[in-house]
Amino acid sequence: MAEARADVPVAPEADHDLEALLEYLRDVRAFDFTGYERADLVRRIDRHIEKVGADGYGAYTSVLEANPGEFAELFDTILVDVTGFLRDNEAWEFVASEILPAMVAERGPLEPIRVWSAGTASGEEAYSLAVLLTELLGEEQFRTMVKIYATDADEAALVEARHARYPTDRVLKAFGQERTHRFFEIEGATSVFRQDLRRSLVFGRHDLVQHPPISRIDLLVCRNTLMYFTADVQRQVLTNFSLALAGGGYLFMGRSEAMAAHTNQFEVVDPNNRVYRRATGEAGGSSHPDPGRAEAMIRAAFEEAPVAQVVVDPAGVVIAVNRRARTTFGIGQDAVGQPLGDLPVSRRPPEIQSLVDEVLAARRPLSVRDVVWMSPSGGQEHFEVALLPLASDGELGVVVNYTPIGG
Ligand SMILES: C[S@@+](CC[C@H](N)C(=O)[O-])C[C@H]1O[C@@H](n2cnc3c(N)ncnc32)[C@H](O)[C@@H]1O
Repeated sequence: MAEARADVPVAPEADHDLEALLEYLRDVRAFDFTGYERADLVRRIDRHIEKVGADGYGAYTSVLEANPGEFAELFDTILVDVTGFLRDNEAWEFVASEILPAMVAERGPLEPIRVWSAGTASGEEAYSLAVLLTELLGEEQFRTMVKIYATDADEAALVEARHARYPTDRVLKAFGQERTHRFFEIEGATSVFRQDLRRSLVFGRHDLVQHPPISRIDLLVCRNTLMYFTADVQRQVLTNFSLALAGGGYLFMGRSEAMAAHTNQFEVVDPNNRVYRRATGEAGGSSHPDPGRAEAMIRAAFEEAPVAQVVVDPAGVVIAVNRRARTTFGIGQDAVGQPLGDLPVSRRPPEIQSLVDEVLAARRPLSVRDVVWMSPSGGQEHFEVALLPLASDGELGVVVNYTPIGG
């Protein structure tokens, strides 16, 4: 049984074991709970460890190592996915009557509207937005003008969200008869959100702590999600939100995270309903950018770099993969935490790991000309592969750049 409890101070050795468990999850399973608010996290992990019957965090780490399915169980316990349609109805009524019409009025008739539901869980929040925007714009305009990005860290929740099937009694309770009949196909005890309108929604896995933000967002809805993070991580995520928002873009938060948004990055639009706007004049001008914002911009620059880049630690384990690398080599964010040698990107050149070792040993860059990458579909691409040593706090890693050659 775990020693740490939410209501008593954590014993130092339990504290150490807990941190070791969190580091194991971050380094080996690529999910970073180290920035989650401790009391709630400890309560959930303890409850789970007790259920599994492991004797403390150290023993539980061994259970995780031995049993590949165990991580999903723990993950499910930690990520609370309670949600609902138009959850916290009053605030949604305010958004429907004041914010959405203002947002639409502020744009040109042909400008697309980009909405992001971050921490969307099983999708109710995203479909609530779809209902309100369709009512405001009409179906044709909604279909052509609106994109709703609905993201979460929990893939299982996203599977439910994509299915769009919910108990009919819950749908009726939230939307009433008329709206339910307009927006859902009722199939007895369950109802499915209309497929033609669903095409404007894009569901995808996105980790608010580790991934760069989606860009040019006009309305960002993030509710009942940031409260799981420590104050530092909340600040970092809010900085990402200010980068995500287009000029004048709105941020709609939940009761729990509202306080975190009281920074100079946002103007308060309505404190009771927790609606904010990206502060104007924030984006340029200042000769001393706030460090959190600068860091987020550097991360975004890595993500958007025009060449494929993979960063590895001294053991050759992948730390980061940018967008171009993911699309070029057909790998996902789950590459993070795996040895570079195990990824398809390493099939050519096969000696990539020994090159990494060489760069680290010599502490100087190396490049290999005309490396041929064979895609799984049989196509060929030619790259110059450059490996550059990185120094950070005395530790070295390597960034591998894949620059395309010729056509
Ligand atoms: C309580 S639900 C909130 C759902 C919805 N926004 C609402 O207010 O009804 C919290 C969601 O945050 C997600 N979450 C937790 N940590 C996350 C992270 N690092 N990145 C993205 N989503 C995360 C969980 O998976 C869960 O679906």
